[in-house]
Amino acid sequence: MTTAPAPVDAFIAGLPKCELHLHIEGTLEPALKFALAQRGGIALPYADESALRAAYDFHDLPGFLAVYYEGMSVLRTEQDFYDLAAAYAAKAHAQKVRYAEIFFDPQAHTARGVAFDTVVRGLTRALDDAERATGFRGRLVMCFLRDFQAEFAMATLVQSLPYKEWIVGVGLDSDEAGNPPVKFREVFARARAEGYRLTMHCDVDQENSTEHIRQVVEEIGADRIDHGVNALEDPALLARIRERGLGLTVCPISNAHVTDGMKAAEIRALLDADVKVTVNSDDPAYFPGYVAENLAALRGPAQLSDADLVRLQRNAIEISWAAPAVREEFLAELAAYAENAGR
Ligand code: HPA
Ligand code: ZN
Repeated sequence: MTTAPAPVDAFIAGLPKCELHLHIEGTLEPALKFALAQRGGIALPYADESALRAAYDFHDLPGFLAVYYEGMSVLRTEQDFYDLAAAYAAKAHAQKVRYAEIFFDPQAHTARGVAFDTVVRGLTRALDDAERATGFRGRLVMCFLRDFQAEFAMATLVQSLPYKEWIVGVGLDSDEAGNPPVKFREVFARARAEGYRLTMHCDVDQENSTEHIRQVVEEIGADRIDHGVNALEDPALLARIRERGLGLTVCPISNAHVTDGMKAAEIRALLDADVKVTVNSDDPAYFPGYVAENLAALRGPAQLSDADLVRLQRNAIEISWAAPAVREEFLAELAAYAENAGR
């Protein structure tokens, strides 16, 4: 199911934003993909951008992932990764995203012969340049691919240690079927011991969604859950999530593409249950819509008032891993915006 784009109203457009669930490889827009292919001398099996978009025909997580990984073939050099992150940083700045924690999937690159160093240097250099130029702050979160062996994740974790100052946390993504959080118990324990913050995907409507959420909360002890909407099905689990202040980073337009809808009623229910829920864009080149479009799409169906939209941003910065000074600056700007708008 897809969603007709809702117009971004003035309040959403001006709202200072914080994004916590964004895969940098999922921001590879068709135009950039063609440009990188041309620069790298890579032949794409599509005549043009609209033919490429027409091939984005997926209805579930594995279907999406096949297209997503195929798309990465054009990312090879440090400059390619730089251009990818620079494009997102410009888009984020234009949408008043002040702070973003940005997932990257190193194994999807190292598995095809691209060096870890190439990936991290390209992304980091772009984020540093963007911060100097516009003030937009992007920090990296390294995701492990859960459909690979835990040993590969552990080796990647070790490989990341010299780059620790550039990476704020680790996550877990890719195909969830048959790949529960506890498969990575030792990897996450080591990551925590190394000082990384922890988050994990519990995608929507998976085979064992509530059991996977339970594992994240009770056994891994992650700081956040990416998606995690199915927690609503288990009131005791939901109560623990609320008590511990664990955040859920939900992605409405993504949900509409890989499940039976945006899950607007569920997101409303999470807000009403006082869970620290945030709205994010996931893979905006594939699930069309950056964070402003996600808020706009959700606003009507989830009956979000201006005050709710402010609260979503407050939740996001509160559950973020931003430095205290960044957090305070954001909260002050948000409060001033809300006050100016009379909310
Ligand atoms: N879920 C799992 N894997 C992913 C996602 C997602 O939302 N986006 C990119 N890889
Ligand atoms: Zn995701």
